[in-house]
Amino acid sequence: MKKIMDLIAEELAAAFEAAGYDREYAKVTLSNRPDLCEYQCNGAMAGAKAYRKAPIMIANDVAARLGDSPCLEEVNAVNPGFINMKIKKEYLADYLNQMSKDGDLGLETAKEPKSVVVDYGGANVAKPLHVGHLRSAIIGEGIKRLAKKMGHRVLGDIHLGDWGYQMGLIITELRERQPELPYFQEDFEGEYPKEAPFTIGELEEIYPKASGRAKEDEDYRREALEATRLLQNGHKGYRAVWRHIMDVSVADLEKNYESLNVHFDLWKGESDAQAYIPDMIERLKEEGYAHIDEGALVIDVQLESDTKEIPPCMIQKSDGASLYGTTDLATLIQRMEDYDPDQVIYLADKRQDLHFLQVFRAARKTGIVPEKTKLSFLGFGTMNGKDGKPFKTRDGGVMRLENLIAEIVDEMRGKIAENRTVAPEEAEATAKMVGMSAIKYGDLSNQASKDYVFDVERFTSFEGNTGPYILYTIVRIKSILNKYQADGRELSGLSIQPAHDENEKALMLEVVKYNDVIASAYEELALHKICAYIYDLANAFNRFYHETKILAEEDEEKRKGYIALLLLTKRVLEACIDVLGFEAPERM
Ligand code: ARG
Repeated sequence: MKKIMDLIAEELAAAFEAAGYDREYAKVTLSNRPDLCEYQCNGAMAGAKAYRKAPIMIANDVAARLGDSPCLEEVNAVNPGFINMKIKKEYLADYLNQMSKDGDLGLETAKEPKSVVVDYGGANVAKPLHVGHLRSAIIGEGIKRLAKKMGHRVLGDIHLGDWGYQMGLIITELRERQPELPYFQEDFEGEYPKEAPFTIGELEEIYPKASGRAKEDEDYRREALEATRLLQNGHKGYRAVWRHIMDVSVADLEKNYESLNVHFDLWKGESDAQAYIPDMIERLKEEGYAHIDEGALVIDVQLESDTKEIPPCMIQKSDGASLYGTTDLATLIQRMEDYDPDQVIYLADKRQDLHFLQVFRAARKTGIVPEKTKLSFLGFGTMNGKDGKPFKTRDGGVMRLENLIAEIVDEMRGKIAENRTVAPEEAEATAKMVGMSAIKYGDLSNQASKDYVFDVERFTSFEGNTGPYILYTIVRIKSILNKYQADGRELSGLSIQPAHDENEKALMLEVVKYNDVIASAYEELALHKICAYIYDLANAFNRFYHETKILAEEDEEKRKGYIALLLLTKRVLEACIDVLGFEAPERM
């Protein structure tokens, strides 16, 4: 369906034209004076110069031609030249009924679906998942769902950090603890064991210990670097240990992401890019894109138009080792070959923006990525504690994701028990659902690039701009609908009626924004716009609810119309939270 604002703009464009003006001036926006009107057009002001007329004259001419508009009422030209409009109640109800009939709620999906890769999650294998990875997972999952909703073909790739120094550290520590294992016998010829020589618990103990030791013991550090190099150059035994580390960690990661309702289509990682590196480097050298600078192989990415210095993109260190940028370039080669995407969207901490600028420029310059493929970096800010510093546990350590989720769910469990509306056997699942909304909405309601404070108390509140408040609103609607049905009435075949009062109309005006909000959230990769929208929508619904007798309404047609509006409001709220990656329980 066309967006309601576009429909109004068309109407207005015809009026501009009929009055002898260019239709270009017929731009419509939401009113910034809701006390006066619902929509407005400032085109008369823009046209004043071209037509050498006072804006109010143009506005009057246009308004005069909208007198018998099927969609607008109360069209007023006001000084100095605004055109203020209200939408006809019948037209609004009709639009909402069309939305109700549409499986996509009238969303205008992409006319030419694009293929999009979303690179998010970015967990580092063998290191515990911590809150730093939370934002990438939550925002990335939302962007992926949003792109799908818009009709694009989307692949979400976790892009594991699975090839770095942490692997060398674990191998070194393991060899020291169990030198007799076959992986460490240089002359071993047989088959390596299928079972990993460690559990996830042991692995999580090994990594921090090894990492701490390497910081103090230079020999140990050198050993770990050497182990990393050998692994990357194909050492048989180390590769086998690496496989074990991968299997054990990935199983654990899957569990963690599952609990966040985050699902990847691809579980590729930095290691998958390695096969592409030698040929890439060869070609870049041959074709003159890369040159040696202070011993390292680099690609210049500075442009004349730059106002500050952009250092070159390093692709090989003097000792032959590859770097973060090398892997990202090679991964782009793989992605172009395998999926030929129209867009790749990366999620990472915003402090990585220089890295991505270098990689994107190098990829374009060398032809790895053609002009037609858009490269986007969505950098996010830090999740801070109440003290304004990066979020830590109470004793100052790195907060593990599992513990963070547990803390929120605990809080929710308490609140839900207090409310006594949920049966004990449902309470656990409900606490998890509401807890998830608290975490995700708490994150997504902020502009991604901003830092935000993770405030358990505020995020879990049932009031205010929070996930639980949105869920509470949905649950309230569900409960009304259930009561309606319990009285033996049908939920199907109902239609929304022209608004009976201002509160109902205000709710309707929010519901019709859905199409526009989803499209612009995608265009700007801005999930916080969806949060702001559902908060407004929930508020509009609750105002309507408090001022209106819904089930107690005696006029049956009127009551049916209310129920139809509730059904649609619920569907819109649910569609939005589905994009944000959480869901509503039946009761809470
Ligand atoms: N593993 C990285 C980190 O923890 C994030 C990866 C982001 N994606 C990428 N293609 N570089 O910081």
